[in-house]
Amino acid sequence: MSTATERLQLPLARPNILDLAPLYEVLRREAPIAPVTTPAGDPAWLVTSYEEVRLLLGDKRFGRSHPNPEQASRISTAAVQDGPTGTYETEEADHARMRRLLTPAFSAKRMRRLSDHMERLVEGYLDELTTSDDDVVDLHSGLAYPLPVAMICLLLGVPESDHELFARLSERMANLTIGAEAHAAREEFFRYMVGLVETKRNDLGEDVISDLVRAQSEDPSFDYEQMVRLCVGLLFAGHETTVNRIGLGTLFLLTERSRWEALVADPDGRVDAVVEEIMRLGAPGDLGLLRYAHEDVEISGVTIQRGDAVVLSVNSANRDTEVYSNAESFDPDRPERTHLGFGHGAHFCIGASLARTELRVVFAALAKRVPGLRLAKELGELEVRATLTGGVAELPVSWR
Ligand code: HEM
Repeated sequence: MSTATERLQLPLARPNILDLAPLYEVLRREAPIAPVTTPAGDPAWLVTSYEEVRLLLGDKRFGRSHPNPEQASRISTAAVQDGPTGTYETEEADHARMRRLLTPAFSAKRMRRLSDHMERLVEGYLDELTTSDDDVVDLHSGLAYPLPVAMICLLLGVPESDHELFARLSERMANLTIGAEAHAAREEFFRYMVGLVETKRNDLGEDVISDLVRAQSEDPSFDYEQMVRLCVGLLFAGHETTVNRIGLGTLFLLTERSRWEALVADPDGRVDAVVEEIMRLGAPGDLGLLRYAHEDVEISGVTIQRGDAVVLSVNSANRDTEVYSNAESFDPDRPERTHLGFGHGAHFCIGASLARTELRVVFAALAKRVPGLRLAKELGELEVRATLTGGVAELPVSWR
């Protein structure tokens, strides 16, 4: 597996992870760091075993930007994530600042406040759904989609009266990625955010935008552009990812009755383990996390050269039979509680505590309030979304 002619062609941009499972199984065993060709024809490495994915995510010789950005492999942005920009040094400095600025937003105190709001919000969505006259309601549009964006509004400090407007603006921005309309959508979002920053200046609170305004008073070079970029980063990192975990989690639980009944029997006692198992088996379905080597690295019998792109498949790592017994089965009682669903190392998901709380609140509330919940369509008939990270576009359910 070491010459260019033997390179494996990376599968299409948005593969169905289930179709890839047999391939990943062979790769983990035979070539956990395999030379591959990207959809654009560039050479790269695909990493599939738990041990190697974790090792490389924690290795400082790999970064999110290319050491010479103009030479970066044209890895399809749809396949992994947006191509990096700037030099590694800028990346490091920007990244350290981003983490520093966002740390207060995820403090235990703020998380407690958000979680109170969250419980009320979820109860409200469920009130609405359970009093509907329809026999079948859509859990996607009625709960999974609006909750994460509402939580990001609260995190940022968007006033309640603007939540709907913010959700609309951000949806437009996420759905349109190229062309004049996409540009207009980004401009509109930018103008809204700048207006919000200006309003906040006179009324600082315990939210991200207030944190950013305070940071600006200490460092005037921190401009609107950077502030808005940070907020958009949070939105992109924290919205679709959470929507899809709620969707996938619902499918995992409802496609086998015994899983759902076990949760219903003891929601508070079981929900934590259920959420971790959703995070393990429902890891982001894209090909993987993208990194570039910043120096030549000898690892597990291969030499990754400076500048090489490396795609780390969290999905494959989380199904590694070296780590998990019965790796493909959804089993919240499994003894192995570790997974890489929130990444690892320097870029470990900063919103993990918020995401976990959202999933816990949602699934505990569903189990308590609608124990008879069932899917109203076959799995194969569900409409799939064609946005940044895939997932389902509908979750038709009933409980009557
Ligand atoms: C990073 C997954 C929810 C904010 C990451 C990474 C993963 C991940 C795998 C690492 C990316 C990498 O190493 O390249 C998820 C999943 C979520 C979720 C599966 C939902 C269940 C959230 C939420 C927020 C958030 C709710 C915030 C509101 C971030 C940010 C980063 C990140 C800002 C970048 C961290 C860095 O580069 O240092 N997330 N995330 N995420 N996540 Fe999450």
